Amino acid sequence: MAITPPSNRIWWREPVAKVELLWIVSGFIWGLVMFFMMIYWHGAGEQNLSNEAYRITPAQFSERTNAMVEKHKVREEAGFPVVRPPPGSDVYLLGRLWQWWPILELQKDQSYRLHISALDWQHGFSLQPTNINLQIHPGYEMIVTLTPNEAGEYSIVCNEFCGIGHHTMIGKIHVVE
Ligand code: CUA
Repeated sequence: MAITPPSNRIWWREPVAKVELLWIVSGFIWGLVMFFMMIYWHGAGEQNLSNEAYRITPAQFSERTNAMVEKHKVREEAGFPVVRPPPGSDVYLLGRLWQWWPILELQKDQSYRLHISALDWQHGFSLQPTNINLQIHPGYEMIVTLTPNEAGEYSIVCNEFCGIGHHTMIGKIHVVE
């Protein structure tokens, strides 16, 4: 804050400097380019979109997840149930403070309908090291048809800040031969 006011009373009515104008125009054009790229990549970018979403209450989703865990649990890992659902079936994964639950064990080259929802508030589903990212909200289930093509251990990290334990919100998917 200046101690004395500017000598010019109407201090703000100055011509825009050339560099600044160039900056504004190039920024605006680049913004337009990125906007249309967004639409372009939607079709051409192999974006792993979730094109299916339904309304569901957290209670309903939790019930379905629990039912699946009860039916197909094969063992436990660090206090988490490991679930091996049959190929082609509906698989449930829930996000809540601060875990992705349960751990899934899927078979390579088999397809699953993966339902993902949150029980409390927004979380981000990010499957590592692949580039699959989904925003997960309570009240909606996102459905992705998943066909893992490589065996291994995949991590799910939460990539939407969801509170004090956000950085510990890590889940797991095993893909087995
Ligand atoms: Cu869940 Cu961040």
